[in-house]
Amino acid sequence: MKILVTGGLGFIGSHTVVELQNQGFEVLIIDDLSNSSEKVIDGIVAITGKKPLFEKIDLKEKSKVENFFKKHTDVKGVIHFAASKAVGESVEKPLLYYENNIGTLVYLLKELAKKNKASFIFSSSCTVYGQADKMPITEDAPVKTAESPYGNTKQMGEEIIADTCKVVPALNAIALRYFNPMGAHPSAEIGELPIGVPQNLVPFITQTGVGMREQLSVFGDDYPTIDGTCVRDYIHVVDLAKAHVIALKRLLEDKNDANYEVFNLGTGKGSTVLEVVKSFEKVSGKKLNYKIVDKRAGDIIEAYANTEKANKVLGWKAESTLDEAMKSAWDWEVKIRS
Ligand code: UD1
Repeated sequence: MKILVTGGLGFIGSHTVVELQNQGFEVLIIDDLSNSSEKVIDGIVAITGKKPLFEKIDLKEKSKVENFFKKHTDVKGVIHFAASKAVGESVEKPLLYYENNIGTLVYLLKELAKKNKASFIFSSSCTVYGQADKMPITEDAPVKTAESPYGNTKQMGEEIIADTCKVVPALNAIALRYFNPMGAHPSAEIGELPIGVPQNLVPFITQTGVGMREQLSVFGDDYPTIDGTCVRDYIHVVDLAKAHVIALKRLLEDKNDANYEVFNLGTGKGSTVLEVVKSFEKVSGKKLNYKIVDKRAGDIIEAYANTEKANKVLGWKAESTLDEAMKSAWDWEVKIRS
C-alpha cells in the first residue's frame, strides 16, 4: 500500500519512513531539502534494505502537488511532516511560516478531498496548549493563544483539518500532538541534523559534548519546579515514529471513532533541564559544561502529557526511557562528527 510522507527526509519523518517500510508499506517521500539532505535516504536503506521513492518538491508549488497526485493515483494515506519549525524565525518571518505551513496543508487537503477515501496524519505539537493549567495535559485541555506564528500554524492547521473533515466524509484525519521528540535510530544511521546553532535542548547538549559548542546555557533556575529548571516530556523519536504507523493503520482499517481525532504523544513523565543534563553525563561518561543564564522569553514552566488516550485508544505506549533516548542521541552525534 502506497503512503506519501511529506518531509520524509527530516528528523521525525525519516524515522517514520523506517517504521512504515518495516511494516511493509511502500513509501513515497516528498521533501524540498530545505532542512534535510538526500543522504538520509542512504541511512533509511541501511536500516530497512529498501529504498523509498523520493521526489524533490516544494509543496508551495500548487501545480507540482497536483501533478504528483495525478501521477500517483494509488496513494492511500499521507503523513504530513513538511513544515518550518523554528519558533524564533517564525516571529521574524510570519508570512513565510503561514505560507509554508498553512498554504501547503491546504493544497494537500484539496488533492485528498478529490479521492474516494483518504487517510491523513498531521504533525501537531503540545505547543497548542501553551502553559496548561493542569498537569499532566489531556487532549481536552484548552488550546491557548499561540505565542508565535509557528505555534499558530499548528493550531490553525488542526482547525483547517477539522473543518475539512466535517464536509468531506471520505477524508479521515488524526492530529498527533508531540511533546519533546529527541534521540535517533539505535543503529545511528539516521538522527537529528539541525542546521546552524541548535535551538532545542538535546542537540545543543550533544553538540557541546562533542566539543562543537563551548557551553550549554540553561535558561533559568528559579521556576517553581523541583530544581528550578523547566519541565518537559522528552520522547524517543522511534517511539513517536511507531505511533504514526499505528495511527495511520487505524484510519486505513476504519477503526477510528470519528473522522477527525487528536492524540497526545509523550511519555507521561516530566524531566527538568538539569535531569536531562544528568542523563547525558550518565550515558556519555562526560561532564557537561553548562551555566545558568536568564530565562528564555516565551518558555513555559512545565509541560508533560497525559498519555491515557493514546494508550487506550491507539494501544500505543512510549517504551524508551530518557537515558535510552539520550544514549541514541549521543551515539548519533559521535558517529556523524567522527
Ligand atoms: C520548543 C518550542 C516549541 C516546539 C518545540 C519543537 C519554544 C518556546 N518552544 O519547545 O514550540 O514545538 O521546540 O521541538 O521555542 N533549554 C535550555 N538551553 C538551551 C535550549 C533549551 O535551557 O540551549 C531549555 C528550555 O528552556 C526548555 C527545555 O530546555 O525548558 C526544552 O527546550 P526546547 O528543546 O527548545 O523545547 P521547547 O521549548 O519545549
